Amino acid sequence: MPDPFTSPVETVAEIPALRKLVEAERKQNASIGFVPTMGALHAGHMSLIEAAHRDCDFVVVSIFVNPTQFGPNEDFEKYPRVVEQDLVKCHEAGADLVWLPTTEIMYPKNFSTCVTVKMLSQVLEGKTRPDHFEGVTSVVTKLLLCSLPDIAYFGAKDYQQQAIIRRMCLDLNIPVEIKTCPIVRDTDGLALSSRNAYLSEAERESALSLSRALKLAEERIHAGETDLNQLTAEMQQLISTTPLLKLDYATIVDAGTLEEISAPQPDMVALVAAYAGATRLIDNCLLSADATD
Ligand code: PAJ
Repeated sequence: MPDPFTSPVETVAEIPALRKLVEAERKQNASIGFVPTMGALHAGHMSLIEAAHRDCDFVVVSIFVNPTQFGPNEDFEKYPRVVEQDLVKCHEAGADLVWLPTTEIMYPKNFSTCVTVKMLSQVLEGKTRPDHFEGVTSVVTKLLLCSLPDIAYFGAKDYQQQAIIRRMCLDLNIPVEIKTCPIVRDTDGLALSSRNAYLSEAERESALSLSRALKLAEERIHAGETDLNQLTAEMQQLISTTPLLKLDYATIVDAGTLEEISAPQPDMVALVAAYAGATRLIDNCLLSADATD
């Protein structure tokens, strides 16, 4: 028999119990940081928890593989679930409380409300994954309303997601500050993702083309490129000619509206998405036409 696992960090499942613990901290004037995740934690997630630990007195992390943000043919069933390892990582990164709701807790019988952010949810990821962002915004609303943090932390890895959540909090007057933390990458440039675990060695090698396409965009903008149509065509070419990769998009958009642009401007972001086998990979890079370094 394996030893029973003892979590190194306090955990809670039920919403009233979570509220009670957070409220007790608040009564002591503690500031509350919140990091929502789907688990299978890596250094990218840990960087968010560490940022929350630096900024806030009490850090809550949620781990919930949210079924409503997965499409019917996506990887909900096989999404990695390694809660015990995750709890150790949460503790190491400075979490004070880990919230582990079940699907029944988050979606009780007759649940029927969703939150939709128009426009921003319809482009890029939203085109290929039509119901994805509605699942994200609905669950994040619930997660925020249950934990009532001062600051919630999201990764720039999911650039469109954090833009949508910022819009949602503004539009719905949700009183939380959203902080976006930089993308954490492996030394060879691959952006860390829980889904990287699905990649074969050859697919992982091919996946490097995503960050290379972004590097290309960054360098060319830095060198004064003005023709963004030409530049995105080259990014697309780089990815689509890589063995084992199937390009979804490679584009440069306005960093605020996510609308495609054809000429450089101060705030823009290059975004790429491709499949390596069945695994969807996304990456992005903020670009500035004014960059001087
Ligand atoms: P998940 O994919 O687990 O990611 C949780 C948070 O970690 C997100 O804010 C994501 O952008 C951030 N993250 C992932 N990889 C990162 C990396 N390489 N560098 C920096 N940050 C990274 O995103 C979700 O879960 C869900 O949609 C969620 C918001 C929890 C709602 O279900």
